[in-house]
Amino acid sequence: MKASELFNELESKIPLDLALKTDNVGFMNSDMNTDLIEIENVLLMMDYLSPEILATYGVDYSDFDLLITHHPPNCEVVIPTYVIHSNWDIIPEGACDALIDTLSMVKLEVLDEETNIGYICKPIKDNVNMNYLESLVKNRLDLDYIKVIHNPGKDIINTVAIVPGFGLNPNFIELAANKYADVFISGDLTQSGALLAKNRGINIIDISHHVAELPGLYRLADLIRESNVLVKVLNTYIPWELK
Ligand SMILES: [Fe+2]
Ligand SMILES: [Fe+2]
Repeated sequence: MKASELFNELESKIPLDLALKTDNVGFMNSDMNTDLIEIENVLLMMDYLSPEILATYGVDYSDFDLLITHHPPNCEVVIPTYVIHSNWDIIPEGACDALIDTLSMVKLEVLDEETNIGYICKPIKDNVNMNYLESLVKNRLDLDYIKVIHNPGKDIINTVAIVPGFGLNPNFIELAANKYADVFISGDLTQSGALLAKNRGINIIDISHHVAELPGLYRLADLIRESNVLVKVLNTYIPWELK
């Protein structure tokens, strides 16, 4: 199918105008005519990688007509590239819901009403403890390591804040604490975020930015396949090593 048709179909399901105003979404190659690009094979990844780094995964851009990434590229791209970012984080049944469903949580209310990013949820069972939740997170997301802040006396968990990706910044930790979340599951914990969480008495489980968005990436692949194109999802894993 033509790229223009594919983009129209995608944008009817995941509208560009849902994205944050500052976000760079949609087709990145504004100099190309989307009526002249035929799409059969799509590569879907979290992030744009240079061809050299991509080759370390045994993958070559020349085998694909289009790259779709979740995060906007941070350098020049060598392949037609389409970005589905905060519009996917925000839309119901998108990245956030995919993570919530993977963890069998039940949605209660939106975390950030200004942007509609994130949810306050509850575990499917009442009164679970932190150990249970840590095991559940590691099992469901296939993780050997998570970063945890378990505050003194904060062991019973009934409310969980969930954000795909970059949630563990001070702004969102403040919001989650104000909404009485017992624990916040997301990625990108920083020094200042960690200290704020301790002082506000909210527990933290940092599963990493990448892993927090991975269920959403697989869900996105299914949605793109509805347009009858072949989609290969490449999990590029957390972009560093633990040694
Ligand atoms: Fe995201
Ligand atoms: Fe992200």
